[in-house]
Formats: sequence, structure tokens, C-alpha cells
Amino acid sequence: MRRVFLDNNSTTPVDPRVLDKMLPYLKGEFGNAASNHPYGWSALTAVEEARTSIANILGVLKSKEIIFTSGATEANNTAILGLAYKIKKQHPKLKAHFITSKAEHSSVLGPFEVIEKDFAYDVTYVEVNEFGQVEVGQVEKYIRPETVLMSFIWGNNEIGSINPMRLLSELAHKNNILFHTDATQAFGKISEVNLNSVKFDMLSLSGHKIYGPKGVGALYVGSKVKDSVGGGLHPLLWGGGHEDGMRAGTLNVPGIVGLGEACRLINYSECEDIKLKAKYFLMELQNYFQIINSTSLNKLPSKEIKLNGHPVDRLPGQLNLQFINTRMDQLIHQMASIAVSTTSACGSGGVSHVLKAIGLSLNEIHSSVRIGIGRFTTKDDLDFALQTFKNILK
Ligand SMILES: Cc1ncc(COP(=O)(O)O)c(C=O)c1O
Repeated sequence: MRRVFLDNNSTTPVDPRVLDKMLPYLKGEFGNAASNHPYGWSALTAVEEARTSIANILGVLKSKEIIFTSGATEANNTAILGLAYKIKKQHPKLKAHFITSKAEHSSVLGPFEVIEKDFAYDVTYVEVNEFGQVEVGQVEKYIRPETVLMSFIWGNNEIGSINPMRLLSELAHKNNILFHTDATQAFGKISEVNLNSVKFDMLSLSGHKIYGPKGVGALYVGSKVKDSVGGGLHPLLWGGGHEDGMRAGTLNVPGIVGLGEACRLINYSECEDIKLKAKYFLMELQNYFQIINSTSLNKLPSKEIKLNGHPVDRLPGQLNLQFINTRMDQLIHQMASIAVSTTSACGSGGVSHVLKAIGLSLNEIHSSVRIGIGRFTTKDDLDFALQTFKNILK
């Protein structure tokens, strides 16, 4: 059976060039980067090259400010919980306050829940607009003297909307608040994810969203974090003091090498092509709906398609489509050959908190599908998927 992968926001295939770069570190160059002998030195050199590759793409001058993690989940947890632990230790009496939004990834919402429950800190979850974007005016209202951190997703993993990051970071810094972003989906896709465009203090990213391997990611921690109220981040993992004491554990050298190579291969002009592919896919579906609506005997409710999320400020290649009056969560099972994602089933079978946050009804959520087009999606793949969609929708 032919299969087409249109779920590049859940994960991406490893680029063969990335795999080629990784293989030696799974074979002859298998050394531990912490070992003081030629095997270790070779591994360490490769790790430091990867660190530099990430720093370059982020516009970070000191590559040591990049810490390797097991992925963006760990990076987000380290940024949020690590700061909270440190503040608790340094200033036990401070009732710290944090600001985030209702449309964040669960790996950001999770640690915020922990600091509310276990640290008794206050967290404000700001509402998002109908496109799922955080509005600066909304955030401003909630700032308090004891606000220590703002954390906002750069590009939304479910609906693709891009937040006004420059304005949000300016607001944070004007008020002496640290600014963290979960850039897992935006990193490698939009060139603004760079310190020269937006002044972030911490940034989380992941290998498997950019054609690198799974199980590896990174957290950028700028110098301001050390100078902030907590005086840095408390590690979540203790042991051998790796990563400047911020994250213990033997480094995943092949994974890190893969992440570094994936970063080196980031190409923003390719993202323009991916944008065009998404536009083609959407237009073809819209044309099809126009045809069936004009030829139907008007006995059926009109079939329409609506783009969830912002129409322009969105991640390249990501579409979240609402097929009005159509239970896509049920139809999707008849399209087993096309890998797309129904955002209605998020996590453990609940209803997408992001689609809820933008005000969709349960019916509208059940009618929505996320489609993720990527580097390796061909026109032939899109045409095959379009035909499948049309057959099912008919
Ligand atoms: C926005 C966002 N943040 C964090 C993560 C978690 O990344 P990882 O799988 O590397 O832990 C994901 C992955 O789904 C994501 O899309």
C-alpha cells in the first residue's frame, strides 16, 4: 500500500545527509565525549562542532550557552522548572509570578502546573486571539513586580500561527522579566528565530522536527539568566556535571552530531517552496469544494473548508483545516494511506486545548485536521493525498 506522510509537525524523516554524518559516531567513533583519550577527543570535537552549528543558526555568539538535552520537552522543563527551583532556593519568601498562554505545548503547560502545585507560585495563562496568537496588550495587563518569566510558543504546533515574538520580548525586557520561547516548530522554518531579530533569553528546540534524529534537542540559556533573580537554572538531572553542570548524563554523541548537521542544512529558501506546496494543496481542495457545491442538488449542507490559525503569519507547510459539517476524526480512519493528524485527539484522548483556546466548538474541533508538508513531500505525494481526500469527502 502506498503511504504518504503529511504529518511533518509531529516528526520529520531523518535527512539522509544527517544519517551519513551520524553513522561514524555509531561505529568506529563511538567514544564518550567526556573521556580523556583519542576516542573521547574525537567525540568531543564532533559535539562542539554541533554546538557551534546551532549557535550559528541562532545568532548566538558563545556556543557554550547551548545545552544539549533529550529533546524540547526536557529543554522546556529545564527552562521553567530549573528557574523556579533556583528562585525557591535563593529567595524562599519570594512569591514569584510567571506568564504563559493557553495555547502552549503540553511540555510547557506541564512544568507550569508543577510550579503552581508544588511551589505555590502564580502562573497567568493569557487568552489567545481567534488565530491562536498572544496579544501584547493582553500580556501587559498581567505583569506584576514579582513576574520573573514569560514563556510563549514561537509557532504553534497545532495551528501554525506565529506569535509577535519581537514585541513580546521587548515587553518582557522593558519590565526586567526573562523571556523564554518554545521554538520547536519555528526553528529552522523562519529566519527570525535568531538573536539578531528577537532578543530571547532562553529558547528550546528539537532535532526530530528539523530532519534530525529523535531524542535530542537543545536549550539556549543566555547570560541574563545567570544575572536574574534566581541566579541561573537549577539542573533537573544530577550526576557527572556535564553541560556546564546544567544537565548530567553521557552525551548522545550520534544524536548531537545529527542535530548539528540538521541545523547546518537549514535552508530558508526551501521553506518558501514548502509554503507554495501548502498553498497548492489548499487551493486544490478549495476548488474541489466549489465544484461539488455548484453541482450538488442543494440537498446536502454546503461543504466548505476553513483554515484554522492565522491566514498569513503561519509556519510554512502547516495547514490546520476545518472541513465544515464533516466528522474528520471518523473519516480519517478511512484514509489510512495518508498520515495526517486529527487535532481532536490530543494527548490521552482529550480535546485539543489549542482549538478550544481559539474558540472552536466541539463539532468544529472534530472537523479539523492538521496537515504538515515538509522537505521530502513531492507534488506526486500531494496529488495522491488530494485524490484520497476527494474520494473520502465525496
Ligand atoms: C511546540 C513543541 N514543543 C515541544 C515539543 C516536544 O519536543 P520533543 O519531542 O523533542 O520532546 C514538541 C513536539 O511535539 C512541539 O511541537
